[in-house]
Parts: sequence; C-alpha cells; structure tokens
Amino acid sequence: MPVNPVIAGIGSPPELHDALLGAQYLADDDLATAAYLALALGKPLLLEGAPGVGKTEAAKALASVLGRRLIRLQCYEGIDAGAALYEWNYPRQMLAIRQAGEEYVNIYKDEFLIARPMLDALQAGGNALLLIDEIDRSDHEFEAFLLEFLSDFQISIPERGTIRSDQRPVVVLTSNRTRELHEALRRRCVYHWIEYPDPQREASIVMMRASSVARETADKVVAAVSRLRAQPLAKPPGVAETVEWAEAATLLNAQGADWPNAFRRAIGVALKDQDDLSFITPNLDQIISGVAA
Ligand SMILES: Nc1ncnc2c1ncn2[C@@H]1O[C@H](COP(=O)(O)OP(=O)(O)O)[C@@H](O)[C@H]1O
Ligand SMILES: [Mg+2]
Repeated sequence: MPVNPVIAGIGSPPELHDALLGAQYLADDDLATAAYLALALGKPLLLEGAPGVGKTEAAKALASVLGRRLIRLQCYEGIDAGAALYEWNYPRQMLAIRQAGEEYVNIYKDEFLIARPMLDALQAGGNALLLIDEIDRSDHEFEAFLLEFLSDFQISIPERGTIRSDQRPVVVLTSNRTRELHEALRRRCVYHWIEYPDPQREASIVMMRASSVARETADKVVAAVSRLRAQPLAKPPGVAETVEWAEAATLLNAQGADWPNAFRRAIGVALKDQDDLSFITPNLDQIISGVAA
C-alpha cells in the first residue's frame, strides 16, 4: 500500500509520538497509533473524550508536526453552512454596485467572498490541517452537511461553480460527547477515545508545561487531581487545571505558604464551578492529603 505523502518523514506511530513530544504534546501509544493511521490512510481523525483531556491540543500539535496551518472551525449550537463555508460580503457588494453607477460590476469576485474555515481549508489543501472542534455542540443537520464535505472534499458555490482541491487537508474532529455522533460520520473516521492521562504521564505533562514545578510537587498534584476526578463533580479538572494548580501552588509556596495551604488557597485554579467548590471544600484536606509531606 502506498504511504500517504502527508506523513513522509514520519515512519511509524513511535516516530509520530516523538515528533509530537517536540511540539510539547505527550501522547500515549494508542493516540499516536490512531493519529498515525488516520494520516497514513488519509482519513479524518475523530477524537472523543471529556473536556480537558487534550483533544484540541492534539490537533494543534499535529498541525505543528506536519508543518501545516491550523484552521479551526469551532462548532456551536445553531452553526450553519454559511458560518462554516463562505459568505458573500453584502455591504461591500452593495457599495460596489452603488459606486459603479450605470456600469456593470461583477459582485461575485474574490474580493467579495469571505472564506470561512472549510473553504479556507479546501483552498489551502495540502498546507492545512482543518480542526472541526466540539462537533457535538452542533445539530444533526450540520453533522449531515459535514459528512457530505468529508466524502467529497468539494464545495459548490452557485455563483462560482465547484471548488475542490487536488490535495486534501488533514482533518481532525473533536467531540466532548455531550451527545452521540452519527454512525455514518464515525464510520468515515479513524476513532480514538482519549482518557485522562495515567498519573505518570500526567506528571510528565505538568513538568513539560510548567518549568517552575518540582517533580515531587507534580506527583502530588496529580494524585490530588485524580481524587478530585473520582468525585461526582459537574466540571472535573482537566489536564490544564492540573498544570495550573501545580504552578499556582508552587508560586504561593515560594511566597511563604506551606504546601497544604498553598494548594488550598489555589483551589480556584483547579475547580471553577461554585457547586463543585462547595461540595469539595469540607473534604479538601483529605483531597490534598499527602501534599504536606
Ligand atoms: N497529552 C498532552 N500533552 C501535553 N499537554 C496536554 C496534553 N493533554 C492536555 N494537555 C494540556 O491540557 C490543556 C487542555 O487541553 P485541550 O486540548 O484544550 O483539552 P480538550 O480539547 O480535550 O478539552 C492543553 O492546553 C495542554 O496544555
Ligand atoms: Mg477542546
């Protein structure tokens, strides 16, 4: 089977793992394998997982490794094709018509076309990585439209004809799984579920992302965060919260606070929901037990 030129230079999942490390992303073997296969097979990569496990960041790191421009389509409730594909700049078209007076004016020229992420990615083709982020926020109609785009990799603009590109953009989709995605969409992709990192990997991520933090502190924060995640919280801390809690406590400690106090006072960096905070506060000492040693 011919290897997709997209990954020329990256010969295997371990090589992709190492390249991602160079972009400050520590993938586990399963993620490196799924991403490698998606690239090798020329398929979209679908990453699902809880908020904060590193989905968006994985796409950014991949773009960096591949030397591609990251084009991000952030999905939201009510997003439609116009916001995703292209829009005509009506005010400028109107102005041009008025200025032209009696003369003919082509209002469907490039200068009046506003490329949204999907058209942008199609035009950039081989130089782009299209991140379709948090697709579960969009509705089923938009998902069906996405599926069509991912099948054909072309866009039809009635006034302009069909736009396609010789080289497909690399596509990464993410979902926080607030709802199930269509079977047909999954089938088109290489799928990977991202778990919270295991303690050792999460501590390594903290060390990589927060240079001020000592390894011992990183290990303790990771243990405390995993105790938090075991609680029934509305917004369990993601990896970014682990990194920031370690950084914040390290800062307060350097200013004289002892460790338990430093962690206690910095809790607002780890938990950002009032209900979660009032639920945890009575048990906070137990959550951070061990950080004093
Ligand atoms: N495997 C990882 N390696 C390095 N940093 C990570 C990793 N996973 C998560 N992070 C950190 O956690 C932060 C949040 O991740 P993000 O990609 O925004 O989560 P998600 O998109 O899944 O909600 C990132 O900005 C990054 O700093
Ligand atoms: Mg994200």
